[in-house]
Amino acid sequence: MSPALPPPPDGVDLNGVPAHVACVMDGNGRWASQRGLARTAGHAAGEEALLDTIEGALAIGVRWLTVFAFSTENWRRPRDEVRYLMGFNESLLVRRRDELHEKGVRIRFAGRRDWRVPRRVLRRMDESAELTEANRTMTLTMAFNYGGRAEIVDAVRALVAAGTPAPKIDEKAIRSHLYYPDQPDPDLVVRTSGEYRISNFLLWQLAYSELVFTDVLWPDFRREHLFEAVAEFQRRERRYGGVRG
Ligand code: IPE
Ligand code: IPE
Ligand code: MG
Repeated sequence: MSPALPPPPDGVDLNGVPAHVACVMDGNGRWASQRGLARTAGHAAGEEALLDTIEGALAIGVRWLTVFAFSTENWRRPRDEVRYLMGFNESLLVRRRDELHEKGVRIRFAGRRDWRVPRRVLRRMDESAELTEANRTMTLTMAFNYGGRAEIVDAVRALVAAGTPAPKIDEKAIRSHLYYPDQPDPDLVVRTSGEYRISNFLLWQLAYSELVFTDVLWPDFRREHLFEAVAEFQRRERRYGGVRG
């Protein structure tokens, strides 16, 4: 006999789960200051939030989860914090990749592989991607040294480098040169910490995404908050510029 499936979380219709959820994991620094701790303690506490969010996404059948881990603008932070974030993301991969692999998660990275990202970190990213590349239960994309504008610039540069004539540079051509052309656009974007902005995340892909903002600081975010955001998404009506269907 197969084990009974857990009931769907309150308010979530399992037939209308967004295929792609993207999260701006924000508020780690404030979470730490509220406790009199260093900002880096907030980043460390964000790990549990991320893992619980991944579990929650798997539980309701989200196929694509993209999380903003480090932006092209985050290099502006104090050197110690940047160094901490590099090492933290590296060690998170080492500590968590086997467990994610067992759960059928494919891990990928979106962003620029420039000289500022330590080689060690790139190596861990490559190892994690290789280990999990055949998994298809869910694709977890970590946006790391990622900027939405940089991604569009990189796509246009690739088209120009390939000698694409101007009339052939259309939306389809740009899309097919984004970091992951196989990935559907996010249906739902969740940003924590009470900030109402996009901060250069997935600019091309968010054209018609539903945006949900919550005051919860990222280290306090748990799967229940994800379920609330999905329930909110399911109450929205998407129109894509058309009229009510
Ligand atoms: C998000 O939390 C993590 C990263 C941007 C790396 P923050 O570090 O931005 O936390 P706040 O916004 O300062 O509270
Ligand atoms: C966006 O958060 C980047 C990540 C979550 C990695 P920020 O904290 O960097 O964004 P701003 O500076 O508040 O816009
Ligand atoms: Mg922030």
